[in-house]
Amino acid sequence: MDPLDPELHAGDDDLSLRPRTLEEFIGQEQLKENLRIFVEAARRRGEPLDHVLLAGPPGLGKTSLCRILANEMGVNISITSGPTLERAGDIAAILTSLEDGDFLFIDEIHRLNRAVEEVLYPAMEDFEIDIVLGQGPSARTIRMDVPRFTLVGATTRTGLITSPLRDRFGFSSRLDYYSAGELQRLVERNAGILGIPIDEGGARQLAGRSRGTPRIANRLLKRARDYAEVRGGGFIDEATARAALEMLGVDELGLDRVDREYLELVIRKFDGGPVGLGTIAVALGEARDTVEDVYEPYLLQSGLIQRTSRGRIATRRAYDHLGVPVPE
Ligand SMILES: Nc1ncnc2c1ncn2[C@@H]1O[C@H](COP(=O)(O)OP(=O)(O)OP(=O)(O)O)[C@@H](O)[C@H]1O
Ligand SMILES: [Mg+2]
Repeated sequence: MDPLDPELHAGDDDLSLRPRTLEEFIGQEQLKENLRIFVEAARRRGEPLDHVLLAGPPGLGKTSLCRILANEMGVNISITSGPTLERAGDIAAILTSLEDGDFLFIDEIHRLNRAVEEVLYPAMEDFEIDIVLGQGPSARTIRMDVPRFTLVGATTRTGLITSPLRDRFGFSSRLDYYSAGELQRLVERNAGILGIPIDEGGARQLAGRSRGTPRIANRLLKRARDYAEVRGGGFIDEATARAALEMLGVDELGLDRVDREYLELVIRKFDGGPVGLGTIAVALGEARDTVEDVYEPYLLQSGLIQRTSRGRIATRRAYDHLGVPVPE
């Protein structure tokens, strides 16, 4: 597996590393403060939490936040995802099985189909659903109450959520990439939990190459632990971290082979761009969505590429990083 893939893979979801409270959840200070007020107000009124939409790239903590909120509210969560809900009946069955106040977490909520989404509108607004009984001319619709639940939606693509759905969330927020300092705190804390000694230089190396993503920081930490235990005397110092990262093919900026191929392509084959997303995807042999959702956000965030109306262009920083002279 690519160690820098921000998507969830087997072995990533280490229960011991998952934050359980807002205090343990590192960074995102403004969002946490807003959530504290939001939760406290709902609790004082004795009401369920209003519906919450969490957007942001993979591995930044959307699922973790949902679990934390449910914890703070003292309620259960049912977890499902956009693509697995095929028919209106699927969502109706889940809604009717909830208890008052429960969370319904829908991951990849931008991938809900129309029929399912339409059940959600009255459910979110009035806690009612319409159920169609029978078929053909004798079919009739009955309206049914559902428990006062809290819908928590997570998405990596806010742009793809329809506005009627988006408008029904009382709270909506975007998670951003974490700073190197925040990830360093995360690495130091989690090294403690995993029982692997680390020093500041080691933590800084791992944090700085984790693409602003806690899931990747945790993964690099575990791989560095393996390396340190076998080759490094059981201690992650800067040299050990560097050696482990080099073995994983992760460079100083946290770029992996595909990222570098992306930049090489734009710079060497297309003279720095502009070049269209479709062309890049074909040349890399990757799906268009993968390039757009997985590779580009971090390249954009690091200032290595820019998106223009005519396509992607490589920045001066990208030339410098690859050691290619910038053309006049
Ligand atoms: N702010 C944080 N503080 C500490 N650990 C975090 C934080 N955010 C995420 N993590 C860690 O990173 C892992 C990935 O986070 P999570 O599964 O919540 O991401 P996600 O945004 O739901 O990703 P996806 O879009 O792939 O579903 C978690 O298991 C947790 O260990
Ligand atoms: Mg998730």
